[in-house]
Amino acid sequence: MTHRDQMTRTSSGYFVSQEAPITCADPIPTPTAPAPDILRCAYMELVVTDLAASREFYVDVLGLYVTEEDDEAIYLRSTEEFIHHNLILRQGPVAAVAVFSYRVRSADDLDRAVAFYTELGCRVERRPEGFVRGIGDSVRVEDPLGFPYEFFFQTEHVERLSWRYDLHTPGELVRLDHFNQVTPDVPRAVQFMQSLGFRVTEDIQDDAGTVYAAWMRRKPTVHDTAMTGGDGPRMHHVAFATHEKHNILAICDKLGALRRSDAIERGPGRHGVSNAFYLYLRDPDGHRVEIYTQDYYTGDPDNPVITWDVHDNQRRDWWGNPVVPSWYTEASLVLDLDGKPQPLRARTDDSEMAVTIGADGFSYTRPGDDGLPEYKQGEYKLGNQL
Ligand SMILES: [Fe+2]
Repeated sequence: MTHRDQMTRTSSGYFVSQEAPITCADPIPTPTAPAPDILRCAYMELVVTDLAASREFYVDVLGLYVTEEDDEAIYLRSTEEFIHHNLILRQGPVAAVAVFSYRVRSADDLDRAVAFYTELGCRVERRPEGFVRGIGDSVRVEDPLGFPYEFFFQTEHVERLSWRYDLHTPGELVRLDHFNQVTPDVPRAVQFMQSLGFRVTEDIQDDAGTVYAAWMRRKPTVHDTAMTGGDGPRMHHVAFATHEKHNILAICDKLGALRRSDAIERGPGRHGVSNAFYLYLRDPDGHRVEIYTQDYYTGDPDNPVITWDVHDNQRRDWWGNPVVPSWYTEASLVLDLDGKPQPLRARTDDSEMAVTIGADGFSYTRPGDDGLPEYKQGEYKLGNQL
C-alpha cells in the first residue's frame, strides 16, 4: 500500500504529512492502562569486556565526566547533566546493552509503567532505590520487542558543569541525545512506541510503503530513540550532543592525533534525516557511539512528519557520501533482565543496504534521474572495499 498520496513533496526532496503515515498489519495491542509519562532518554548501561580500555575511550578521549566509579562500574555524565549519570560502563563477560533507561515525570508513573507492561504480558520487575547508584525506585521491563527498558523518577542531583569552562575540551559532549534500536518489523515497533506516547518525527520508506527506519520523540527534539530495520533486538547506537559542528571536527582531529582514527566508522557529515551534523565511533567493544549536533525543535502538536524516500541518496548523508556496510549490519546485543543475551529475530522486509548500495542497489540524487554517476555506484559495495 502506498502512502505517498497523503504526503507533499518539499523543495528539499523529502515528503511531509501531518500524521505518521505508517500502518502495521500485526500490531501489539494497545493496553487500556495509560502509558507512563516519559520525559526523555536518560542513560544507557553498557556491558564492556575491558573496563580500563572503555574508561580510556569515554573519559580520556571523549571527555565524559566521572560521577562515581569502582572496580566493577563507571558512572559517567555529560556537561549539562544534573542527574547522576547518562552512561554506565559495567565490566562483564559479553559486550551488550543491559538497559535503555528513561526518566518519567513523577513517582506515580512507575505504577503506570507496571500496569502498562503487565497488561501486555511482559516481564516486569520493580527495583528498589540503590539497585543502580544514584537512581531511586525503578521499574525494569522486557518490552514486547525484546528490549530491556528502565523507568525511574527519583535521582541524585549532581553539579551541572556548563560553567566549568576550565574543564571543557574542544570536543565537549554536552547532553545525552538519543538511543537507536534495531528491530525486524519497524511499523510494529512504531505502533508500539506510539502507544507508549512517542511521536514520529521522520521516517524512511519506499513508494510501496515499506518502512526502513523511524525516528520518535518525547522531548522536543527529533528523537529520544529511533527504530532501524534489521535483525533484532539489538542496539545500533547511543548518541551524545555537542554544541557546535566544530566540536565534532575536534574529536576527529584528536582521534587522528592519538593514532586512533580506526575508531571512526562513518562521517563526519550532515544527515538528511534530522538535519543533524554527525560522527559515528566504535568503542573498544564495538559499541557504536554517535556524536550529534544541531537538529531542530519538534515540540508543537502539529509538527510535520518528514518521510524520506529510501532511494534518495541524501537521506542518510546530505552530501551524498556513502554509508559503510558495517553501519547497516553491525549492532550490539541486548540483555534480558537476567543478564542473558536476547535471541535475534531476522528482518523479513527488504534491507535498506540491499536496496541502496552496490550494483544491485539503486539511489538517486535528483528525483527522476537514472541514479548515481558510474564512479559512485560501486562505492562500498560489499566485498569491494579498498
Ligand atoms: Fe543517531
